[in-house]
Amino acid sequence: MLEMYKIHMLGILIVVLFRTSAAGPSVVVALAGGSGAGKSYIGTYVKKVFGHANVSILSHDRYYKDQAHLHPEERARLNFDHPDMLESSLMLEHIQGLQRGETVDVPVYDFQTHSRLGYQQITPAPLVLVDGILVLAETVLSQAFDIRIYVDTPADIRLLRRIKRDLVERGRSVESVLQQYQDTVRPMHELFVESSKARADVIVSGTEGERFEPLVTLLAARTGLVRSSFVKDEL
Ligand SMILES: *[C@@H]1O[C@H](CO)[C@@H](O)[C@H](O)[C@H]1NC(C)=O
Repeated sequence: MLEMYKIHMLGILIVVLFRTSAAGPSVVVALAGGSGAGKSYIGTYVKKVFGHANVSILSHDRYYKDQAHLHPEERARLNFDHPDMLESSLMLEHIQGLQRGETVDVPVYDFQTHSRLGYQQITPAPLVLVDGILVLAETVLSQAFDIRIYVDTPADIRLLRRIKRDLVERGRSVESVLQQYQDTVRPMHELFVESSKARADVIVSGTEGERFEPLVTLLAARTGLVRSSFVKDEL
């Protein structure tokens, strides 16, 4: 009986050691959906629920190709909502590396100069959320994820949030935000983002008053993580 107990305790110890070791593999989850859908909110929420050290957020934006060689006027005409602007092949390598438990060197991108400044080491957290409007836009990339989430939010709500964010955080005018919405955000959403919803395993609504309980339960089951705090849903 005592032997059985010892063996059991040894088993638990081994599990604990593996779980807490930095070299454990990551469960890598896509967090897709249009601009203003509520992806960042859900990312922050999941981080709070499972504890900050257990969840990393990797943004697709980090993988924008370096455009420093272009003149400022040429750069201003670029369409940053198009999949070709991103080095998704490199992100695919990094996702697979994290799934094998490897530390990866992810790019550091500067939005002011549209250039890649360097690389930063990311160690594999038990749960990695890969966030971006286009993370499910391409078949090969989308197949790499362990779970694919799409945050589905009506266009009017997304536009309102985008106006608020760009006015408050980026000091832009309503006219310029609406112009960009019409010229690139809306057409690219129709072309690449909305259609990528079909690749999602889970579709969550990003409107006010939404409950993320089922999503938390799914992520807990796949990662073995335990809810470490209760967070009020307040989207
Ligand atoms: C990470 O997850 C483990 C297992 O669920 C938990 O015991 C630990 O407290 C979490 N870490 C943080 C920093 O919350």
